[in-house]
Amino acid sequence: MEHIPLVDLKAQQVAVADEVAVGFASVLERTAFVLGEEVGAFEREFAEFSGAAHCVGVGNGTDAVELALRAAGIAEGSDVILPANTFIATAEAVVRAGAKPVLVDCDPQYQLIDVDAVAARVDADTAAVVPVHLFGQIAPLEPLQSLLGSSGPLIIEDAAQCQGATQAGAGPATVGVAAATSFYPGKNLGAYGEAGAVLTGDADIAHRLRSLRNHGSEAKYEHPELGFNSRLDTLQAVVLRAKLVRLAAGNEARRAAARRYDASLAGIDEVIPPSTLPGNEHVWHLYVVRVPRRDAVLAALHDAGIGAGIHYPIPVHLQGAFRDLGYGPGDFPEAERAASEILSLPLFPEITPEQQQRVVDALEKALV
Ligand SMILES: Cc1ncc(COP(=O)(O)O)c(C=O)c1O
Repeated sequence: MEHIPLVDLKAQQVAVADEVAVGFASVLERTAFVLGEEVGAFEREFAEFSGAAHCVGVGNGTDAVELALRAAGIAEGSDVILPANTFIATAEAVVRAGAKPVLVDCDPQYQLIDVDAVAARVDADTAAVVPVHLFGQIAPLEPLQSLLGSSGPLIIEDAAQCQGATQAGAGPATVGVAAATSFYPGKNLGAYGEAGAVLTGDADIAHRLRSLRNHGSEAKYEHPELGFNSRLDTLQAVVLRAKLVRLAAGNEARRAAARRYDASLAGIDEVIPPSTLPGNEHVWHLYVVRVPRRDAVLAALHDAGIGAGIHYPIPVHLQGAFRDLGYGPGDFPEAERAASEILSLPLFPEITPEQQQRVVDALEKALV
């Protein structure tokens, strides 16, 4: 029985292997291992692809969120609002930036940050809101901006899961002052290890980011402020450049695969398919359905050789690492309900209609 993984990175690796080998050889030949022309070129190309004025490459997506908050001037001890249903890294980065995570619930349909919940929680101590563009679609940024106003808390986007996504035709870091992204291998644009970046339209923020990622330095051995060692690795930039030129086609293939799932799942009453927020161009980082008896269904899929997953089984407020924040079960009912019902089905650009049919058949059987 063929195993169908949640994400299959092999096909992408084969497609770029020759180009990457040539690029690696060139870096090795020049022994130009830190920053250098590959990083600069990737930053320009990814900024252009995303429709942002500036891109600053950093070590990973968690650093990208932290450095974006720091570069935007979020003060130590201030409140930063974020959704309870995200990968732990969003909240972790807020703490590492010296701020306090303030969690809010998600909406029941799209599982994106609930703007009404933000409205109920925002106050004079709120320095920023970090909407998370979960599963490949942009959170409702216009309503969020209308709520916060131009002089209120800043919007700093967690765009780790949405490379290539748009809302009303615009990419991340158009409404927000900055957008942090991750190039973790399984992302739509994935490196061969750790990598991330911050997009911004603000030249001052970009300038600060370049200093912060490089030991707080703009000129060699001059360090007017404390910074970090979080530069985008040069060899990762080679990989990312080779994959970036294929990203639009990969996202289109993901959309076609999502449409196939939508059509096949329409006949199964117990499955709630994912919804796309009006105005969004989704890039389907994950195809997340909701099902009853989720854990049993997941186990049955695994038995049938289907690599389905859960993103994420425990919301941030119920994680041991955040027990000091004082939240408990019942605080964010939609995030908790989602955590018990969601199921990510295998989806990657190269998935075939036959593989998807096997997933749907196995799901249907598991639900009987
Ligand atoms: C929503 C979200 N935020 C932040 C991150 C952190 O990125 P990284 O793993 O590159 O640190 C990830 C991915 O892992 C993510 O999915």
